[in-house]
Amino acid sequence: MDDFLVLDARADRAAVLRDPRLSSSPDTSVPANLLFMDGEEHRRLREVVKEVIALTEPLPAEVGAGIEEIVTTLADQTEFDLVADFGRPVAALVAAAVLGAGPFDDRFLAALSKTTANLNVWSGEASPAGDVAALRVAMFFLKAPASEGGGLALLRRACAEGRISEDELMVTPVMLAHAAYENSMNFLAVAGLGLVTSPGTCPAEVRGLVQEIAPTRYAARRATAGCAVAGRTLAPGDKVAIPLGDGLAFGLGRHACPGARVAVAEGEIALRALSKVLDGGCRVGEVSWKEHPVFHGLAKAVVTRTS
Ligand code: HEM
Repeated sequence: MDDFLVLDARADRAAVLRDPRLSSSPDTSVPANLLFMDGEEHRRLREVVKEVIALTEPLPAEVGAGIEEIVTTLADQTEFDLVADFGRPVAALVAAAVLGAGPFDDRFLAALSKTTANLNVWSGEASPAGDVAALRVAMFFLKAPASEGGGLALLRRACAEGRISEDELMVTPVMLAHAAYENSMNFLAVAGLGLVTSPGTCPAEVRGLVQEIAPTRYAARRATAGCAVAGRTLAPGDKVAIPLGDGLAFGLGRHACPGARVAVAEGEIALRALSKVLDGGCRVGEVSWKEHPVFHGLAKAVVTRTS
């Protein structure tokens, strides 16, 4: 992040997230990825993505039941991993429900996580592995049968009606599945570790927990014209990193997370069920963390039930 201006004061961070002079795109190419889009094009695609997410608001009862089933099964195991056995399957179930396609198997989920590497474009690094993974995920959605009334079916209809382009139809399921899966998986596993190490944590305070954990460490923006930010003059092309602590975990402004309600609903069910499983005693063994500069999460956290 050497070539980024990293903002510190909360007021500067909030102002930059709302500032239309700062683009969400790492370069000047025309993106088909919602996260990298600006202006009217971004507003148009975001409307459609919000319609997709609204299909799982409130979280359908069968999705809630599916989350509970995944978590209560852990009660039959003396040892489990908060990533592989808790965060990952819960987040995968919800991401598949948002898309109305799936289920997502381990191979697909590994490719989905690898698309994270595509955010390395911000640091100027090419990521052939990220590109291949994104292509694999895109191919899955191009061929997948879409459940009637689900998110993927809605996106296909929006494309047929000319509301989104064919490129956007290819990229949007990938970005949406990634946004829903990676952030929630990271959040759930870290919050689960909190339940083990501080048993008093209240799983009902999920929105506050997301803010504490801030699974997405930074948002990035690029100056499109010369401008002053936090008392510094930026030239066109200069990049800014916005740390997302202090209540900004879901972002702010035009790119603020449209999946926040889904993430909180999923977290409430999963963490309540997990706290029941942990009730009666447990201890944590091997813990390791991911090393990605933006996505904050556990690689592994093995819990042993002691009762
Ligand atoms: C704890 C879980 C989550 C966290 C911490 C989180 C955080 C964020 C943040 C910080 C952004 C803004 C990035 C920026 O400004 O550059 C964002 C965008 C986004 N999130 Fe989430 N998210 C979570 C879960 C979800 C879920 C479950 C969904 C889908 C149901 C979702 C869908 C999206 C989408 C589509 C965007 C792009 C919005 C845009 O560019 O206009 N997120 N998320």
